[in-house]
Amino acid sequence: MATQSNTQRVFNFSAGPAVLPMSVLEQAQAELICLPGAGASVLEISHRGAAFIEIMNSAVARLRDLLGISDEFEVLLLQGGSRLQFSMTAINLAPGAAAPPDYVITGTWGKKALEEAQKVCAPRVVWDGKPHNYSEAPDWSSLELNPQAAYAYITSNETIQGVQLPTDLDSPAPLVCDSSSDFLSRPVPMDKYGLLYACAQKNAGPAGVTVVIIRKDLMGRAPSDTPGYLDYRNHAEAESMYNTPPTFAIYLLDLVCKWLQQDVGGLANIERQNIDKANQVYTVIDESDGFYQGHAEKSCRSMMNATFRMANEQLDKQFIAEAREQGLDGLKGHRSVGGVRVSMYNAMPLEGISTLCQFMRDFMNRNG
Ligand SMILES: Cc1ncc(COP(=O)(O)O)c(C=O)c1O
Repeated sequence: MATQSNTQRVFNFSAGPAVLPMSVLEQAQAELICLPGAGASVLEISHRGAAFIEIMNSAVARLRDLLGISDEFEVLLLQGGSRLQFSMTAINLAPGAAAPPDYVITGTWGKKALEEAQKVCAPRVVWDGKPHNYSEAPDWSSLELNPQAAYAYITSNETIQGVQLPTDLDSPAPLVCDSSSDFLSRPVPMDKYGLLYACAQKNAGPAGVTVVIIRKDLMGRAPSDTPGYLDYRNHAEAESMYNTPPTFAIYLLDLVCKWLQQDVGGLANIERQNIDKANQVYTVIDESDGFYQGHAEKSCRSMMNATFRMANEQLDKQFIAEAREQGLDGLKGHRSVGGVRVSMYNAMPLEGISTLCQFMRDFMNRNG
């Protein structure tokens, strides 16, 4: 059995913070002591200086290029994680609308977003997957969304349950999307969205920076007594320098975007790779004759987080422990649902997936 030395890298299937591209880590390592041209580490320089402003502008320009974001939108780089966006979306977009927002709840994170919105307004739940333990996605045509609603809210990928919305919703109200765990994993038709946000620590970089892409006409609605940090307009006016931005996280976000542009060749290419990787894992599950029981319905299985369990908790635990010994780490399901979760974000190499699939087949042969 392979044993890991304490400096040997494993295949890291963590749900986030998650695996980063090796070339990004290597460049960051090479530049850590002295950022070329800056005479100091990126950790040490002023966010107002030319070197950092160039990094900030580059990160935003790369995001615009990758996602095809038009001038109709602002791209903000904020702090507070996606959790803060649960509140900021409602605080900024609900006031003054003819009707409260509509929420589609496909898992734990949508539910948490709803709870925060309830502190600010009276959101309407138009679909809730709770009766089937958040294993399904709604049929969009069955939803009765209110065109007058402040916004319609969705979570494109529920990281804990492994439920991903299979198609983009055509919403009559501005569409707000928590895209934290499938951001930059595929091209997105931005014209369907009013606001899309993602914390970086899955596909886009380390924890500490949250990307908010917001249609400009949706800003300026927050009440005048809104705390300054919580008003999107302040961040847009200050070009994401309303307070000291998370400089190192933004530097890494820029490098990850560069990797996606130059090494991967864009989001259509990474989507193809992600479909291929996910198919490999789901094929093992589907061919296991019930040994591996997937959580999500096939029609909405996540390309990013595959969730499954075995016949009993003991077997799940054994699977996770033996996998770790083989250098396959981070596979424990979220504490609220148990089982196994395979997070296979953009930077998970194909080799990691094939090693995992081989382990899954071996484990089943030994224990099935
Ligand atoms: C879909 C989704 N939304 C929100 C969050 C919360 O993000 P943060 O911890 O950055 O606030 C997560 C974290 O895993 C997530 O997966």
